[in-house]
Amino acid sequence: MSAWALVLGAGGQLGRALLESASPGVVGLGREEADLRAPETLALALRTHDPRIVVNAAAWTAVDRAEEDPEGAEAVNARGVETLARLCAEGGRRLLHVSTDYVFDGTLGRPYRPDDPPRPINVYGASKRRGEEAVLSLLGGRGTVVRTAWLYAPWGTNFLLTILRRAATGGPLRVVDDQHGTPTSVLTLARVLWTATAHEDLGGCWHWTDGGETTWFGFARAIVERAAARGLIATAVPITPISTAEYPRAARRPPSSVLDVSSLSRRLGIRPVPWEEALEEVLERVSLAGAAAPSQG
Ligand SMILES: NC(=O)c1ccc[n+]([C@@H]2O[C@H](COP(=O)([O-])OP(=O)(O)OC[C@H]3O[C@@H](n4cnc5c(N)ncnc54)[C@H](OP(=O)(O)O)[C@@H]3O)[C@@H](O)[C@H]2O)c1
Repeated sequence: MSAWALVLGAGGQLGRALLESASPGVVGLGREEADLRAPETLALALRTHDPRIVVNAAAWTAVDRAEEDPEGAEAVNARGVETLARLCAEGGRRLLHVSTDYVFDGTLGRPYRPDDPPRPINVYGASKRRGEEAVLSLLGGRGTVVRTAWLYAPWGTNFLLTILRRAATGGPLRVVDDQHGTPTSVLTLARVLWTATAHEDLGGCWHWTDGGETTWFGFARAIVERAAARGLIATAVPITPISTAEYPRAARRPPSSVLDVSSLSRRLGIRPVPWEEALEEVLERVSLAGAAAPSQG
């Protein structure tokens, strides 16, 4: 029986949230079944499940590792997505593709709108931009790109779970305070993406994050304070704000990549949840799962 929607990257942070909040008729596939580097697996998946829409949450997301292996990032995020877009176009299917704030250099001085010119400053961002271009050029109105930022989840590998584990082992923590963005829960994002799929004519490029903005330091402080209040960690360990220069990494990061989500907000009739509120929902899930229990640190 055909699926209404096919989610790729089903085992990732966002993929899991998409499947958890999916309506009937949605099939999720992981890399083993649909590999962006293996066109024949994509073609087979589309033939087998015959979806009206593909939601692509699969990507090479190792931002620093991409600097050492640009070919790896390019193969997944650019060529793999181009193949997927071509197959979707040939089959008359829609493609909702997830992209990133890292397509911007972060120097604009105001939140980025979807039509602001991208200027990636790292390999990952450049590979994601090429994927976006393929979706938008090959699919026309059937192609939708939703850029998001600073994703975290009650599962997977992410900043929230790393901070909780380090805090649980007593800290102290040093966190960058000169990069600005918006932490975004995969739980809220997944719900918005499903609403977006219901809009048949939502082609083009859009932005979505939770509401507000902060720095990695501000996010870490909120995580630790709220986790301590919930008894997830014993005490709110001290956190020291540091500069990007004090925490060198392989890939450069945009200093401010806050996204302006107002156009998608108007179009879907949804207001973003403040990031602090979205954080509480994720911490609630972490405490229920015991996923970041101190003993596992
Ligand atoms: N994480 C963030 O902060 C962030 C910020 C902005 C935008 N985004 C974008 O949001 C989307 C979802 O990100 P996420 O945080 O959910 O990432 P994630 O947790 O790293 O999940 C990505 C998934 O893609 C899969 N994958 C990797 N290479 C693949 C391939 N060749 N073929 C098929 N699947 C492959 C991974 O499988 P394996 O586990 O087998 O590797 C993983 O399940 C991505 O498009 C990402 O670029 C993420």
